[in-house]
Amino acid sequence: MKHIISPLDLTVDEMAELLDLAEDIIREPKKFSSRCQGKKLATLFYEPSTRTRLSFEAAMLNLGGSILGFSSADSSSAAKGESVADTIRVISSYADICAMRHPKEGAPLVASQYSTIPVINAGDGGHNHPTQTFTDLLTIKSLKGRLSNVTVGFCGDLMFGRTVHSLINAMVRYDNVSFILISPNELKIPDYLRKEVLDAKNIRYKEVKNLDEVISELDILYMTRVQKERFFNEADYIRLKDTYILDAKKMELAKKDMLVLHPLPRVNEIAVEVDDDPRAVYFKQAEYGVYVRMALILKMLELA
Ligand code: CP
Repeated sequence: MKHIISPLDLTVDEMAELLDLAEDIIREPKKFSSRCQGKKLATLFYEPSTRTRLSFEAAMLNLGGSILGFSSADSSSAAKGESVADTIRVISSYADICAMRHPKEGAPLVASQYSTIPVINAGDGGHNHPTQTFTDLLTIKSLKGRLSNVTVGFCGDLMFGRTVHSLINAMVRYDNVSFILISPNELKIPDYLRKEVLDAKNIRYKEVKNLDEVISELDILYMTRVQKERFFNEADYIRLKDTYILDAKKMELAKKDMLVLHPLPRVNEIAVEVDDDPRAVYFKQAEYGVYVRMALILKMLELA
């Protein structure tokens, strides 16, 4: 049995198979509509979510399966002090597969060590968000046509943004990928990512503060929200939250085929006027999240 805790739990070949299957599902969704009949997905969400939880649930329902779960720690026995280990032991006898989001880094890994069903990390603290990465890769592959030979700009909260960490880890495995990391000093990528991933693998990257100066170089612009829930100090959050606002004027400086991605939710970092720009693909990206999670459930339950 395989769990998905990190985006690197899939090899490059397995990732290609997953994305191919997701594209098959997009082309012929009916073909897959009863593959998971009789199977149950548990969504164990200790932290708020709209897209991840509901796209997992939509994915299982689209496959003919059923869903159960909780959407906050408060509505589960975690509020009474139950451990993740005990919870997953119980859920293992209620469901065939589970997706877990937790504010503590490593909680889904702990769950996987006690589980008898496959566990999918649906986001753990500021650490990883592998199924968002699979969604991002499907979006780039489908809409850009390639995962190699791209310059990707990450903009905003690169310190706490787990989607950024996961996507960097996944994209360094493709040829000729370079990064432009756009953030204020306080929100730069963590040291371990710079040293152990980018420097160690000789990846081309630069760290800058100004989006306008570099936007014309980008094939992909990955905007992020400043993660209010991970700040210790509200004054710092208020000072930094509107550092970057992508608007129509900035989009004029970008390539005609640059794609704008955002894992969502958005707060102020992309002006609503950008939504009508054909290069803004973040709502399509959220839709792709359903297809890639359908593919993942099929692969993990060996029903593909
Ligand atoms: N992208 C993402 O993880 O969104 P949610 O927090 O709404 O699940």
